[in-house]
Amino acid sequence: MFSHRIDAALEARKSAALDRKLTVIDAGNQPVFSFEDTCYTNFSSNDYMGLASSKELSKAWQEGIDKYGAGSGASPLVTGFSAAHRRLEDTLCDWLGFDRAILFSSGFSANQAVLFSLLEKHDVLVQDKLNHASLMEAGILSPASMKRFKHNDTQHLNEILTKEQQSLVVTEGVFSMDGDLAPLSGIAKVTSQSGNWLMVDDAHGVGVLGENGAGSCDEANVKPQILVVTFGKAFGLSGAAVLCSARLGDYLSQFARHHVYSTAMPPSQAHALTHASLMLQNQQWRRDQLMSLYETYNSALSTVPGFVETQTPIKPFICGDVNRTLALTNSLKKAGHWVTAIRPPTVPKQSCRIRITLTANHTTEQINNLVNSIIHFSEKNHTG
Ligand SMILES: Cc1ncc(COP(=O)(O)O)c(C=O)c1O
Repeated sequence: MFSHRIDAALEARKSAALDRKLTVIDAGNQPVFSFEDTCYTNFSSNDYMGLASSKELSKAWQEGIDKYGAGSGASPLVTGFSAAHRRLEDTLCDWLGFDRAILFSSGFSANQAVLFSLLEKHDVLVQDKLNHASLMEAGILSPASMKRFKHNDTQHLNEILTKEQQSLVVTEGVFSMDGDLAPLSGIAKVTSQSGNWLMVDDAHGVGVLGENGAGSCDEANVKPQILVVTFGKAFGLSGAAVLCSARLGDYLSQFARHHVYSTAMPPSQAHALTHASLMLQNQQWRRDQLMSLYETYNSALSTVPGFVETQTPIKPFICGDVNRTLALTNSLKKAGHWVTAIRPPTVPKQSCRIRITLTANHTTEQINNLVNSIIHFSEKNHTG
């Protein structure tokens, strides 16, 4: 019975040209990598600040291994929590302006842990329609009822909140597939006016936006009750933290099951993450380099159909249907640019796109080569 179900699902995905493939990159996620004997510039990573391939950060991780050994050996409340974990929590709290930080092994588990431990049957979870799959799935599985407000529509959010009981409002700071910013000050205003709490998942904003990289909330001058930061993007590593009040921190460390019943991240990783936090705060040149690359990208493509202007390293290029998206992806790959086609179910059917991400490791020349290839394809194929 299961075999039949599995075969049918795989077949359906393949025939809709929606199947995904695992790409084995020999030397790992580098700014330029070789795959099947061809060299590509990597425009697909979330390594916005170039830390994943930074020698300085690798060295910090090695120092952490020398100091603390390989693994944590246990969950945090048993013996898995070290001085390195505490230092990471303290560094995040000082930087981002919260009393407590609770660490998780991934952003996916952090989001699930918060929603599962906080929400009860009569609560209402109100989410932006384009929130990440981890938030949507947690919402569907949580005991609360879930409502979705139109993307970035503060008025629609307000209409929902005026009709509902105790609600938790959840938005991303920067949306992962569109690269646009949430109107955080408006969202925070209507949320607090209705006496509710706000949770912001700033996976794509922290390190990139705000003063010293303090993220979307800093940029919008908003302090949510719950801030989720993930370490797989600007931090160049992996894992996540939930920033909150001391009381909520106490609660999560008792009741957040993904924290309590899961092996703590290796202390060497926590040590490296503290170093990454300091690099993000102090190495402003990485954000300056990104800003200069945005200018190159935006000015070259602004009149090309499919171009979307964003203030973040995420540059969606909208193609419409799946076939056109795959044609552009293949054409760019042939020219040595590694980009990812984004298709349903990640985005709606007619808004398939390529998701281009810029990083502080890219050069102006690499961006010029990329935009020239996009322009060439568009002229030949009348994209739009
Ligand atoms: C907005 C958002 N939240 C959470 C996650 C999940 O984070 P992680 O990769 O650490 O599990 C992602 C990952 O892409 C994301 O884009």
